[in-house]
Amino acid sequence: SLTLKEAFKGKFLIGTAMNAYQIMGKDTAATNIIKKQFNAIVAENCMKSERIHPREDKFDFSLADKFVQFGTDNNLVVTGHTLIWHSQAPDWFFVDDAGKMVSKETLIARMKNHIQTIVTRYKGKIKGWDVVNEAINDDGTYRSSKFYQIIGEDYIKLAFQFAREADPDAELYYNDYSMSIPAKRNGVVAMVKKLQKQGITIDAIGMQSHLGLDNPDIKDFEASLEAFSSLECKVMITEMDISILPFPDKNAGAEVTKSFEYKQQMDPYRESVPDSVTTAFEQRYLSFFKLFEKHKKAVTRVTLWGVTDANSWKNNWPVPGRKDYPLLFSRNYAPKPIVDKIIKQT
Ligand code: XIL
Repeated sequence: SLTLKEAFKGKFLIGTAMNAYQIMGKDTAATNIIKKQFNAIVAENCMKSERIHPREDKFDFSLADKFVQFGTDNNLVVTGHTLIWHSQAPDWFFVDDAGKMVSKETLIARMKNHIQTIVTRYKGKIKGWDVVNEAINDDGTYRSSKFYQIIGEDYIKLAFQFAREADPDAELYYNDYSMSIPAKRNGVVAMVKKLQKQGITIDAIGMQSHLGLDNPDIKDFEASLEAFSSLECKVMITEMDISILPFPDKNAGAEVTKSFEYKQQMDPYRESVPDSVTTAFEQRYLSFFKLFEKHKKAVTRVTLWGVTDANSWKNNWPVPGRKDYPLLFSRNYAPKPIVDKIIKQT
């Protein structure tokens, strides 16, 4: 039967995130799956600022270079993730030698050096960059990150300008999670419109798509997809996974979330997954892939956040140490039955 990349040929790219072991060639069972099934890759961690730029005067390109080389060698479309993000960012970025918050001018200069050094290095090899990640809160306001606190909302415009200057041929993306939430959708739409008025081109909006079995409502997801594509931006599904585990209540206190009873309750499928849950999981994947095909004019790439369940960050987030089953390949590297079902549905 067809592979995933064959099934979606002419529709959209189908990609996966790669972790450090895979990039280092230490998980060939996974890299064989990548070569066979996918035509796009993104680095799960190695291009984040704390990894690639651990000190002001030190870039560490060792893994990132290997990652890009893997893409070139195997004819895969390579996405860079991510240039400006509040998380997994090193402290030095925001403080001077005395530990005092830097000035706006200094942070802008650091951003420029960071973005342009990295983008220039991979010019012609990276198809597009997640330039800014997670700048908008769920209520549609700007996230009060250090970039925002020190520079104000202009940091977003500047990040896109610096990246564009460094590689005019690379595509530039805005990427975020929980994009189905109406207030967040509106916040992102307003931000993008404002940037466009200022002459910034955003080639695509990335919807991370860390989904649950019931959340979000696919209707809300579709409304966001349509709202983003009506801005004349392509839409990319950038970090897809479907957790089968319950999501903790935001209001549960630290003692509760750390307790053994709570962890047990939050990890009901440690031993085995009931058929009814597998059915719901498959239905969910099929509905979303059907939606992506319906919107194939707008959707240019669908990327899964990892190859097998063993690699998934969902085993450690939002509750550490759980056993989740959110991806298309199982812990023993076998394609789950859902892979063939997705292919047959195309
Ligand atoms: C996650 C990685 O998967 C983990 O390995 C890491 O510990 C934390 O970050 N949104 C993003 C991704 O944009 O970079 C995050 O990746 C998941 C949420």
